[in-house]
Amino acid sequence: MKILGIETSCDETAASVVEDGTKELSFVIASSKDFHQKTGGVVPETAARKQVEFMVPVLDQVFQQVPKNEIDAIAVTTGPGLIGSLIVGIAAAKALSLALEKPLVPVNHLVAHFYANYLTYPPEQIEFPALVLVVSGGHTDLVLMHNHGNLEYLGSTLDDAAGEAFDKTARILGLAKYLGGVELSQKASKCSENTLAGTLPRPLINSANYDFSFSGLKTAVKRLWENNDFPVPVVACEFETALVDVLVAKTIRAAKEFKVKNILLGGGVSANVRLRHRLELESKNIAIPFFKPELRLCGDNASAVASAAFYNFNPKSYKEISANPSLSITQ
Ligand code: KG4
Ligand code: ZN
Repeated sequence: MKILGIETSCDETAASVVEDGTKELSFVIASSKDFHQKTGGVVPETAARKQVEFMVPVLDQVFQQVPKNEIDAIAVTTGPGLIGSLIVGIAAAKALSLALEKPLVPVNHLVAHFYANYLTYPPEQIEFPALVLVVSGGHTDLVLMHNHGNLEYLGSTLDDAAGEAFDKTARILGLAKYLGGVELSQKASKCSENTLAGTLPRPLINSANYDFSFSGLKTAVKRLWENNDFPVPVVACEFETALVDVLVAKTIRAAKEFKVKNILLGGGVSANVRLRHRLELESKNIAIPFFKPELRLCGDNASAVASAAFYNFNPKSYKEISANPSLSITQ
């Protein structure tokens, strides 16, 4: 089954065709990131206008690689995301569904992030129950995956998401106005010894639940940075280590408590080298296989949307979904 995925939840306009949930036949992404650098953050109106501008050329490129008449279904991100951006992808997907007379499959953005792993590893290697840590610009969630479409929510951030904490800290340290997570991580990698180890708080690390909180950590970095004269790499390193300590501690505790067979990572922050290494190491210590998306698939992309649709597609409910494309597969 060949599924066309469309992803427009924020500042990426992406379309892919994936066969049987794992084989990418086409992968196209356009981004309006550069336009948001000027404003130091996404202006939703600008992002939506760029989606309108990019959507048709992106689809045209995909159809040059996979002819329209080979497509069996159309999958689209229906949220969470910026409403003006989401609407562009949903409108395009609805139009294609009607024109090609193919089913329309709504996909939750965070669930799509899980499936980047199905495009990275042979799917039969991933066993249930699996524990998924989703870390993005807007979310930090721990989810128990009993099966495809059978998810149990364990915890989430009470305030800033992990990616948001990275980006805001990068701004405090003067590294980047917008999406500075990568820059911060690069600076942190230049620190040969973390002389500030343990200076910053590890919020909720020992709390009895699976919730997170990163806004206090961000404020603590601000104070540390403004009241001292420490070099950027060491402050960046201690911030990154504190955040990763919390994510890893809670993930490993949940993995043990729920006796999962696998640990999966997803979302933009899953590109973070320290997080990948630490989870790799600590899951090995408890003998639970760990899966992480290949770097190209960590951020928002449409291949993961198409893969999620394949594994969650229920042909019986397709008519109902087509009639109401605002439904989410997790609802
Ligand atoms: O999933 P994603 O691409 O978009 C959302 O759904 O939000 O995640 C974007 C987030 C941003 O906050 C970005 O700074 C962060 O992922 N990010 C990173 C790294 N690469 C991307 N954070 C830390 N280290 C990285 N290497
Ligand atoms: Zn995302």
